[in-house]
Amino acid sequence: MLDKLTAQAPDALLALIKMHAADPREDKIDLGVGVYRTNEGATPVFRAIKQAEQKLLDVQDSKSYLGPEGDSGFVKALMPYIFGEGSPLTERIEGMQTPGGTGAVRLAVSLAAKAGVKRIHLGIPSWPNHAQILDDVGVETVPFSHAKSDGTADLDAVLGAIRGAGSDGAVLLHGCCHNPTGIDYTGEQWDAIADAFAETGVLPILDIAYQGLGQGMEEDVAGVRAVLAKVPEALIAYSCDKNFGLYRDRVGAFYMMASEAGQLSAIASNANALARANWSMPPDHGGAAVRLLLEDKGMTATWLEELDEMRARMRRVRDRLAAADNEAPGLGLTALGEQNGLFAMLPLTKDQIASLREDHAIYMAGSGRINVAGLHAGNTEKFIAALADVTRG
Ligand SMILES: Cc1ncc(COP(=O)(O)O)c(C=O)c1O
Repeated sequence: MLDKLTAQAPDALLALIKMHAADPREDKIDLGVGVYRTNEGATPVFRAIKQAEQKLLDVQDSKSYLGPEGDSGFVKALMPYIFGEGSPLTERIEGMQTPGGTGAVRLAVSLAAKAGVKRIHLGIPSWPNHAQILDDVGVETVPFSHAKSDGTADLDAVLGAIRGAGSDGAVLLHGCCHNPTGIDYTGEQWDAIADAFAETGVLPILDIAYQGLGQGMEEDVAGVRAVLAKVPEALIAYSCDKNFGLYRDRVGAFYMMASEAGQLSAIASNANALARANWSMPPDHGGAAVRLLLEDKGMTATWLEELDEMRARMRRVRDRLAAADNEAPGLGLTALGEQNGLFAMLPLTKDQIASLREDHAIYMAGSGRINVAGLHAGNTEKFIAALADVTRG
């Protein structure tokens, strides 16, 4: 049987990681992998997470099974940050822990499909795994354009997608720090999006993977909250892997908002059954650490400070890149100053991306996506000079 399987294309980013690792040049720059890096190029464990893990080691008295919903204390502890302290919406929201944001997106898409959704409209470009998950679940991906060539979001395209989705369509949007473009909807645009969802009754699937890494903890979910305030139902995927630095521990949550509180247990029972058939239950460690962190005022303050430092550092890099373009126009970097989060797309040709890699030891995805956090005080000027070299010759 197995020899009938044909080889799948290797993951392009993993191939890039290997090429970067094998490059002996000391001043090489990795802008490919999507993890946060400090000014020293490291991706350390958060100080607050270290403290929480230490406490977990001391207080955890059992590793017995939980259940498909995972650690409900973790799921509840995140809710004030996502939905707002004391939000009345939470009466209509039920959540469960998932293996990373990926698990949450998987559950959202599978549950939507189980409820009868046949097509999901997706702004393109998007995180590549979105389309892959939709395909794997058997839901059709209907693409619409996420951004315009001036580096701002394409509002007409998303409104058209919502208005055209129909009763068996849903629309998947990134909550903040859009991956791969860094281009988020403005507050006014989110209001128009919320109105379109409310008018049509189309199901919103909202993917929040970078809360706190764009403009701020509250600011980054303002758009999502604007939608939730106006619609009867929504599915929300959440990742703690970036904003708690827990990547490999696979920490995420999935929330279902029902039109009436009385429907929640039936909806959640379907999500539970899907989780049970997929991974049975999520890994506990990271979620438990996040719960202990959020239950402790001191650790929470440390965590929020760390997020502030990360956000400020990425803002400095973005401002420097945008300023470089103002000093010598033509680098395609101006809009980066207005965009958010880890990622940006540079308008480079395949040849220019290859030349950056071969002639300058600068590694980025073939799409032109860069991880802004791969740049720091020690390598940003080299990057700007190399970009000038490949774009101007
Ligand atoms: C838009 C988006 N959603 C979800 C995820 C999933 O994150 P994870 O599964 O690592 O928590 C990512 C990760 O890169 C992402 O960019």
